[in-house]
Amino acid sequence: MKKSITLALLFLSVFAFAQQKTIDEKVEALIKQMTIEEKIGQLNQYTGDNAATGPITINPNKQAEIKKGLIGSMLNVLGTKYTRQYQELAMQSRLKIPLLFGQDVVHGYKTTFPIPLAEAASWDLEAMELSARISATEAAASGIHWTFAPMVDISRDPRWGRVMEGAGEDTYLGSKIAYARVKGFQVNLGDVNSVMACVKHFAAYGAAVGGRDYNSVDMSNRMLWETYLPPFKAALDAGAATFMNSFNDLNGIPATGNSYLLRDVLKGKWNFQGFVVSDWGSIGEMVSHGYVKDNKEAALSAITAGSDMDMESNTYRYNLEKLVEENKVPIALVDDAVKRILRKKFELGLFDDPYKFCNPEREQRELNNPEHTKAAREIAAKSIVLLKNERDVLPLSKGLKTIAFIGPMVKSKRDNHGFWAVDLKDIDSSYIVSQWEGVERKVGKRTKILYAKGCGVESKSKEGFAEALNVASQAEVIILSIGENWNKSGEAKSKSNLQLPGVQEELVKELQKTGKPIVILINAGRPLIFNWTADNMPTIVYTWWLGSEAGNAIADVLFGDYNPSGKLPMTFPRDEGQIPIYYNHFNTGRPSINEDKIYKSAYIDLPNSPKFPFGYGLSYTTFEYSNLKLSKKEMKNNETITVSVNIKNTGSVKGEEVVQLYLRDKVGSVVRPIIELKDFQKITLNRGETKTIEFTIDNQKLSFYNNALELVSEPGEFDLMIGSSSADIRLRDSFELVN
Ligand code: NOJ
Repeated sequence: MKKSITLALLFLSVFAFAQQKTIDEKVEALIKQMTIEEKIGQLNQYTGDNAATGPITINPNKQAEIKKGLIGSMLNVLGTKYTRQYQELAMQSRLKIPLLFGQDVVHGYKTTFPIPLAEAASWDLEAMELSARISATEAAASGIHWTFAPMVDISRDPRWGRVMEGAGEDTYLGSKIAYARVKGFQVNLGDVNSVMACVKHFAAYGAAVGGRDYNSVDMSNRMLWETYLPPFKAALDAGAATFMNSFNDLNGIPATGNSYLLRDVLKGKWNFQGFVVSDWGSIGEMVSHGYVKDNKEAALSAITAGSDMDMESNTYRYNLEKLVEENKVPIALVDDAVKRILRKKFELGLFDDPYKFCNPEREQRELNNPEHTKAAREIAAKSIVLLKNERDVLPLSKGLKTIAFIGPMVKSKRDNHGFWAVDLKDIDSSYIVSQWEGVERKVGKRTKILYAKGCGVESKSKEGFAEALNVASQAEVIILSIGENWNKSGEAKSKSNLQLPGVQEELVKELQKTGKPIVILINAGRPLIFNWTADNMPTIVYTWWLGSEAGNAIADVLFGDYNPSGKLPMTFPRDEGQIPIYYNHFNTGRPSINEDKIYKSAYIDLPNSPKFPFGYGLSYTTFEYSNLKLSKKEMKNNETITVSVNIKNTGSVKGEEVVQLYLRDKVGSVVRPIIELKDFQKITLNRGETKTIEFTIDNQKLSFYNNALELVSEPGEFDLMIGSSSADIRLRDSFELVN
């Protein structure tokens, strides 16, 4: 049996190699026939007629250019009908090279999943892989070949609106998620249910100064390698077909023209064989950066550095040929970029059948099919974070007679979809489940639900308060749904003020005076600040933007059909003044112990601690951690230690717990964080059940980048912490790495 599996694997890899070889041969044969204009055409990507996802640019006659073979790829063309129309134009070109259709399929296509930051709160890698797989299936069924996702930028700054697109602040968690998402999108690349992933934004975009989008990044190479690059490497290890460079400059060099990042690291050290697409207009933007004097220099810089495809800046289109003629750009450099792109078109099978992804029946069948809807509901429920449940108001009884469902988010549909939902023009939104619909379906006719909007999300008017108080007075329980609108966290949505907008917190105060039990739902794309609510209201649920099944998922959690298990993937600050704030910081020479402020590294007007820490989230049950055991207390770097721990469900309902393993390297040749996530397991326990779980400590978990940028582990003592969050460590021990 084993032998036949080995033989089959051998056959498959020989087959894959042979196939690759033929693709390379086909690419070589094709490129020999191409004129320089046609080659540059392959490097050129234009936006189509759907909503633009960047500043509007005036493109020349796209249709005519496609027929001349001057465009290699389009974005923002959606649906089998339109992608077919464009592909038909490409088939009229001399060499009939098919177009690639790219799209920001960031958290679902028609079926919308929670925004990525929310999904990260599930810590459920299988669920995230599944959501990417379903997104890919739907997008591919709709003519798309390539998604501009996953976004794997680590960010420690909730002022940056794009935190909603990533996996939060932690490198370990972010790397695991990056891997899972790429696997999901590319499940079976070349098949009609998969799309190419595009890992973005390379690199360090999440560290934009002041959290202001597109801003500069200045960081040490050590920080870059230790904190910001690992998720990109993980995505590459998962087989990511493409990368996108970022808008920012990194230490003075725009990422688009950054040879160190693209040529030395990505295509050199990491041996990336796919292609790099620029971000929207980012090649031309190097002029505004003040890095090059004009578009011609921008094209020279970008192609030399390793940006293969030009998204929307027309810079290659109008400058590259001249640069080749003047011998400033060797034709081999252009050829390399073209080959990388052609190879992907062959691998996708587009030369065999350019309309492979244009099947309207499949499109009809796959978009938002019941299986996808079911998965979206489950994943949305897993992404919800229970922040407070002090008086056990939750879960609500299904036998309640009257509920007052109040707030500007109760009946909203668009907000549930969040930023970066695909803008499907011809589709009505009735399939998006509002919170009102979700709760109504859940309680049926048994419970009367009263509605009042109370106030707008951002409006300053308190006119609706009276009606809200009126319905509240008639109910046994109040559910209040507040937050920020869908378009307030996302690209170009940086904010200096993260407080709950408008008069929403004043509405909370008014309703609190009724003395009735109140469940607060906070809908947002990033960590918001809501100190009064957090300090005074006993029941708070963070619901993010959960996608098309938001209403059902929220109702599942509110009424206990799903026991919440989400844990924050980002630190929630008390105040904007604490930002950047992250759990895995250094100790400093003067750490503030117990918020001591006298000559300590502290704020005199604020505690150092966050409002809600990384890894935090409650359940309707409780978990007891015990019996921490290490297989040994000393290890050499070619050895491992097995860590085991017992987790018991001590409450009265079934639940899931994310058991988190943290380490601290006590002394290093460069200082090490006071605590670092190094592993986790999400487990399900029935009421009263105990499970023993095991982790393995190996050398990789102990390694870090030293000042010479070598990945090393250094002998010495390590603290080991097992916890339910980064600030709720239940068990501790230590071990030694020896020579
Ligand atoms: C700009 C964004 O930065 C990028 O993430 C996105 O993929 C492109 N626009 C295309 O929409």
